[in-house]
Amino acid sequence: MTNANTDRVFIFDTTLRDGEQSPGCSMNLEEKLRIALLLEEMGVDIIEAGFPIASNGDFEAVNEIAKVVRGSTVAGLARAARGDIERCAEAVAPAPRRRIHTFISTSPLHMKFKLQKEPDQVLEAITASVSLARNFTDDVEWSAEDGSRTEPDFLCRAVELAIRAGATTINIPDTVGYAVPDEYGNIFRMLKERVPGADRVIFSVHCHNDLGLAVANSLAGVAGGARQIECTINGIGERAGNTALEEVVMALRVRGDRMPYDSRIRSELITRASRTLSATIGFPVQPNKAIVGANAFAHESGIHQDGMLKHAGTYEIMTPESVGLNKSTLVLGKHSGRHAFRAKLKDLGYELGDNALNDAFARFKALADRKKDVYDDDLIALVDDEIGHANDRIRFVSLAVMAGSRGPQSATLELEIDGELKRVSTLGNGPVDAVFNAVKALAPHEAMLKLYQVHAVTEGTDAQAEVTVRLEELGKSVNGQGADADTLVASAKAYLHALNKLFTKREKTAPAALSA
Ligand code: KIV
Ligand code: ZN
Repeated sequence: MTNANTDRVFIFDTTLRDGEQSPGCSMNLEEKLRIALLLEEMGVDIIEAGFPIASNGDFEAVNEIAKVVRGSTVAGLARAARGDIERCAEAVAPAPRRRIHTFISTSPLHMKFKLQKEPDQVLEAITASVSLARNFTDDVEWSAEDGSRTEPDFLCRAVELAIRAGATTINIPDTVGYAVPDEYGNIFRMLKERVPGADRVIFSVHCHNDLGLAVANSLAGVAGGARQIECTINGIGERAGNTALEEVVMALRVRGDRMPYDSRIRSELITRASRTLSATIGFPVQPNKAIVGANAFAHESGIHQDGMLKHAGTYEIMTPESVGLNKSTLVLGKHSGRHAFRAKLKDLGYELGDNALNDAFARFKALADRKKDVYDDDLIALVDDEIGHANDRIRFVSLAVMAGSRGPQSATLELEIDGELKRVSTLGNGPVDAVFNAVKALAPHEAMLKLYQVHAVTEGTDAQAEVTVRLEELGKSVNGQGADADTLVASAKAYLHALNKLFTKREKTAPAALSA
């Protein structure tokens, strides 16, 4: 790694760790691998792949990612405990570039109430944990949890010990999103000025968005001397989330005049990463979200449109193309062949295997038959809906619904459960209720429906519907997403997506218990 005085800023993505641990954002192994490979392709410097001690699933995900990712450093998280660090070392071992990221709280509040440790015990734990981690790799990151609320003298002492024990990256998280920019930036100035050895390490920012300041604080940290930014795609993460990768990267790129730091991220892949993550976790992006929201490059008012026609720079500070957003164009018609279809998908950033391509092509033909114009966004929704379902235990087969004002509304649903075809007809208070009752009848479960949301992928009454469903069971929530030209089919698919995730989570559920 370069030293801390250069203008290179390292991007440390924690979508698969801090992001994944937030409600509704959990991913299975296949999904985590897909996101990790996409992060690698984007040029992310360090991928934090998980918290190996947390569960066997987390260990396996970090370990598998460490086996396939070659272009980025793979990091795992570990508390300041021997068991955590050894498990983390084992998980990241296959990676050519591997990092152990160990942390302990340093604020008075956390030390007293969370850790119930004296400050001296915390200092001892820092030396012990970092030294142990260094036995496994030369690349050790140490974090001062709740660092922004830590007494300055104690923080300096803690950082000094971590550096002396061999830490190469020092991260000062704003764990609870409490800091304001000048205060946060000054922490790094202080550490660089006061701590012996500070010139030998990379300082890192890790900000939460509780006051909506995560990106501003991260940039202030960089101005104060930090050269690593910890962030997540779409800003997902605990509570209000983490610093959004796309925002901080584009802020540095667009305002290089004021912030001359280079992140080396391939920003043209940002839109694809955002959409892939959103479809994977079933977490829609708010329309006015900076950089990746549906409205981020839309110009509605006449005055703005007029200005844009005269010169794009009047109302656009970056091009849509710079973040990989190509204006949604009319793509293929129902006469288009498989070749053109494959080429178009490649253009949009998807390379499907033969089976997935055949399935997607069949769905595209069906869609083109029903919908006059098929746009890029239709294809993206269709393919996102197609991929990642290889290991689903419950598969959608067909649905017929009776709806309308005369009632009663009913649904006849066919599902394949663990390879067996099942069929049921049910009534409901409205068509959606009837569909969900049918799913419940075929795959009994106690999960509660917490969210049901529909949005149109493109304009017009023939637009595909993209439905998000959130289910909650025993305090754990999962999101599912489904897309189809028929809103009720999309609803059934979204419900099944969430249910499949829930069943994967319940590691020991007997297959027979799934079906009625
Ligand atoms: O927010 C935080 O403090 C963290 C640390 C574990 C790095 O996520
Ligand atoms: Zn965090």
